Amino acid sequence: MTLWHGRFASEPSRALWDYTESLTFDKTLALDDIVGSKAHLSGLHKVGIISEAEFETVNEALSTIESEIREGTFAYLDSDEDIHTAIERRVTDIAGDAGAKLHTGRSRNDQVATDLRLFVRRELLLVADRIIELETALADLAEEAKDAYMPGYTHMQKAQPVLFGHHLLAHGWALSRDVDRITDTLDRLDISPLGAGALGGSTLPIDPQYTSQLLQFSKPFENSLDAVSDRDFVAETLFNLSLIAVHLSRIGEEIVLWSTEEFGYVRLDDAFSTGSSMLPQKKNPDIAELARGKTGRLIGHLGGFLTTLKGLPLSYNRDLQEDKEPLFDSISQVARALSAIKGMLTTATFDFSRMKKAADSPYLCAIDLAEFLVRKQVPFRKAHAVVGGLVRDSLERHVPLEELVSAHPLLGEEAAKLLEPGASVQHRISRGGAGIAAVEEQRSIYRESLQGQIKRIGSFDHFR
Ligand code: ARG
Repeated sequence: MTLWHGRFASEPSRALWDYTESLTFDKTLALDDIVGSKAHLSGLHKVGIISEAEFETVNEALSTIESEIREGTFAYLDSDEDIHTAIERRVTDIAGDAGAKLHTGRSRNDQVATDLRLFVRRELLLVADRIIELETALADLAEEAKDAYMPGYTHMQKAQPVLFGHHLLAHGWALSRDVDRITDTLDRLDISPLGAGALGGSTLPIDPQYTSQLLQFSKPFENSLDAVSDRDFVAETLFNLSLIAVHLSRIGEEIVLWSTEEFGYVRLDDAFSTGSSMLPQKKNPDIAELARGKTGRLIGHLGGFLTTLKGLPLSYNRDLQEDKEPLFDSISQVARALSAIKGMLTTATFDFSRMKKAADSPYLCAIDLAEFLVRKQVPFRKAHAVVGGLVRDSLERHVPLEELVSAHPLLGEEAAKLLEPGASVQHRISRGGAGIAAVEEQRSIYRESLQGQIKRIGSFDHFR
């Protein structure tokens, strides 16, 4: 029997059911639906729409259903169109007429919007926790790496030596912005849609303010049409998750490159790499590759869902049911990616001597020579040309750059010292730069910012 059987002369067709049902995927919301239903029930009781005895009976029934769901014994029926229908049907099975009062003053439209907000706010916090774990792992690695340095690249061409810790923290800062975006989203999401009804509220004296408080939202909706049609929080979440995935993908891409024999900057632990079914010698960075590969799918979820939203008139339209699968998938993929990448990085062996060897080319210190001339009052553009000429000469005539620098009247022995291994990161002093002193300062600023984020996330603990 459908929820709307009174108005309909015949049962829905098989084809309609198979196409429109959402139970196969919205079971994920089962426990949130119980929480939302209990709040709604309390609201009905508070304003006197149901009696104390009815409240007790239905509340008890909802608790029983919660146990059934947790234990996996809840029996779904083919006629349950979605999780909301399934739970309401079971409430009525258990509680009879009192159960049949549960949906008073409520629609699945405000119900599903409420459930989804409860789900998203909790899951986003779990994602934020995992980002913090990865950020912490990067901070630890950056500390362990001490003064190790590697070539920094632009255009994938070696540019300047940079501290390895500096490179790691660059990824860390990107992830820290991801956490900030999550908390911003949580602030905006913090509105209860319960009480909006199908679209326009109710003639009954329901109290959205009260249910909002019970559900630990900051406030209830101001506009019932907006309350049932707003899925901005889903779109924002899909964007946040896509950008996290993009950041992980960029880490992944570097690990793929660095683990090649050609780079040799990192060896992955056996537990975090895979082998080949045919070629016995292979060891492959599959986590890193999937962090790159799965990102396409997550970005697709965002694009797909924005496209679903763009043509929708107010208020609720069944199209909105399409919010769930991309959302559930993106959350689960990003959560897994964060754990896998963290495990891969913390168990990897970074080869500092390979990095150093790759960075110890005097050509990577060319800018330090130009800046040496700048300190001698040579205009930068001229200094650039002088050093550029020496580099060209060195490459064309196969003469070591050091030799040419030592012999140059404006440069000489003092300048040649700047080309010695490790000198560049010693001398790089500017704030936020890749030199030793600046990175040390950055490491502590980063740790501090991490503490701030942990505190901020803690302020949302009532969402868990
Ligand atoms: N399964 C639906 C969804 O996820 C629930 C709301 C259905 N509302 C309706 N009026 N048919 O959106």
